[in-house]
Amino acid sequence: MLRLGINVDHVATLRNARGGPHPDPLSAAQMAIAAGADGITIHLREDRRHIRDADVAAIRYGIDAPLNFEMAGTDEMVRIALQTRPNACCLVPEKRTEVTTEGGLDVAGQHNTLRPMISALRAAGIRVSLFVDADAHQLTAAAALGADIVELHTGAYAHGRAGELDRLIAGATLAHGLGLEVHAGHGLTYDNVAAVAAIPTVMELNIGHFIIGQAIFEGLPQVIGRFRDLMSIARS
Ligand code: PXP
Repeated sequence: MLRLGINVDHVATLRNARGGPHPDPLSAAQMAIAAGADGITIHLREDRRHIRDADVAAIRYGIDAPLNFEMAGTDEMVRIALQTRPNACCLVPEKRTEVTTEGGLDVAGQHNTLRPMISALRAAGIRVSLFVDADAHQLTAAAALGADIVELHTGAYAHGRAGELDRLIAGATLAHGLGLEVHAGHGLTYDNVAAVAAIPTVMELNIGHFIIGQAIFEGLPQVIGRFRDLMSIARS
């Protein structure tokens, strides 16, 4: 079955715009799970622009579903992850000035920095996911480092760049063959999700911005229900 993870970061973005408690990312996470989401993703960024430390604890203990904790590969984030013990950690590149996660992690280039982090997280029973471009060099490096999962960056595909779907298909096939569980996400919408959902080796999609934005017009349960339908049709 293809799982659907919901990223609730932008519920926190909206909340932070006014400084009060509303809308609450934990309530959104609970509603998403009740509507059929298989897991929740949150990204605690270095600058805390959306999810904050208190949200991490509240969501970790307030949901009855796996938590995927997105984080930069820093000592601070590893410490928080080891305290929080999410089901999985997804290591992403992070730049202060970026609007969103712009590219995949340079796993091959940061091999020596990532190795002890991955070992510490895995030793604590946390599954480790690496957010990478669908590039053979990066996928091979992810497998060599002992990651459990690779999440393929679908941003370039979502922006309509030529050849990106074929690249994702080839990357998913290679990663699966290397023994990695394959996830995908970034920029997915009603209009572009089907082709990614149809890749048979992809096990999970993680979607945030479009779902939270579209929920304004349709309601969160309705948007999740429609993604589930689109994913099932694509998969069958
Ligand atoms: N997966 C990862 C690793 C991400 O960094 C993000 C964005 O936070 C997503 C998935 C979700 O992307 P979007 O918000 O564009 O759906």
